Amino acid sequence: MKAARIAPPSDDKRWRVVDATMRRHGYHAHALIETLHATQESFGFLDEDALRYIAATLGVALSHAYGVATFYRRFTLKPRGARHTCVVCTGTACHLKGAPALLDALHRRIDNDPTNPPVSIMAARCLASCGLAPAVVFDGKVVGNLTPDLTIERIEKWLSDES
Ligand code: FES
Repeated sequence: MKAARIAPPSDDKRWRVVDATMRRHGYHAHALIETLHATQESFGFLDEDALRYIAATLGVALSHAYGVATFYRRFTLKPRGARHTCVVCTGTACHLKGAPALLDALHRRIDNDPTNPPVSIMAARCLASCGLAPAVVFDGKVVGNLTPDLTIERIEKWLSDES
């Protein structure tokens, strides 16, 4: 394990998912691809701050992180157009408390939207907020004890703000 670790680029709770991935691998350089994947899943894309943070934490050269991020087509360095992100925790506690129903409701609402949906729906393994299960991160803010109705209420607010 590396001695000194740097702070994440912001206090956005989605960094917890990224941190947990690196921690699981003892902050070893071989965790790079999985960490990039966790970051892409949580934020929808990889920006320079993210790459710098991950490279420094795992002790790999920034150029190497860029190399990997640009080599694989599944990674993108730019947001894909969604203006809001919604990360549903699918970890064990959240799963048991209804995360699949939240995801279903979200996909039903968003995927049926014929226009370019302004919301991107993602899943994460554990947000380290299990006491709040089921939890979702709406634009970087963790909200817990959700039901499908409460989840859709938040999305509707975003969608009505768009129109
Ligand atoms: S399992 Fe969802 S926050 Fe831990």
